[in-house]
Amino acid sequence: MNKDVIIALDFDSKEKVFTFLDKFTGVKPFVKIGMELYYAEGPEIVKEIKRRGHKIFLDLKLHDIPNTVKKSMKVLSELDVDMTNLHASGTINMMKGALEGLTRADGTRPLLIAVTQLTSTDQESMENDLLIKEPIDKVVMHYANNALVAGLDGVVCSPLEAGKVHGVCGEGFLTVTPGVRLAGDAVGDQKRVTTPAKARELGSDYIVVGRSITGAEDPVSAYNQCVKEFLGE
Ligand code: C5P
Repeated sequence: MNKDVIIALDFDSKEKVFTFLDKFTGVKPFVKIGMELYYAEGPEIVKEIKRRGHKIFLDLKLHDIPNTVKKSMKVLSELDVDMTNLHASGTINMMKGALEGLTRADGTRPLLIAVTQLTSTDQESMENDLLIKEPIDKVVMHYANNALVAGLDGVVCSPLEAGKVHGVCGEGFLTVTPGVRLAGDAVGDQKRVTTPAKARELGSDYIVVGRSITGAEDPVSAYNQCVKEFLGE
């Protein structure tokens, strides 16, 4: 199992991204490209970061009718990213279509991960805004199981849910967990957060860390701290 720390490159221009990545010498962190950067710079930014030797999680959280998602995933798989994702709430059929679209002619494909409930969603907003009255825990596990049934590799979830997801879907089913903060850092808009050390204890496979690294005075040492706590290196 390749446990790793993934840095969320939540920047709005490639200049800012490269200024940030240039601080890292001798190490090529696994990075996440989200909607902000992708919409600002387009697919070329993915290719450029790939050329620099980074592993990439393309976090575009697709959610549409199965045929559209299938065809869009086919386009994304040509970008040669290592991991990408969609919303499990798009249904099992949509997830199956995505997997089909993502699989290249030679049978290879990036890892495909489903978002269950965003870590910024809590019981209250889920009940009031989405009219889902079940306990959030049950909803997350149900969506995770749907992803497993569809053949996906894992889910994005809170580190607090990682152990339970492994219990329901098996140890090999990946948990990719945002909502991670170095001790003492601001929580921001996240509602359920843990430290990298705690995420390791809870069984996360990959932690996704944004502001605790990108907003740090010394991002390289913040990254190293995350790696040390999470991987024990
Ligand atoms: O700055 P912070 O560490 O909160 O960044 C977390 C990153 O993970 C952001 O890019 C956010 O979009 C992403 N994410 C999340 N919750 C999810 C899925 C993705 O916070 N459920």
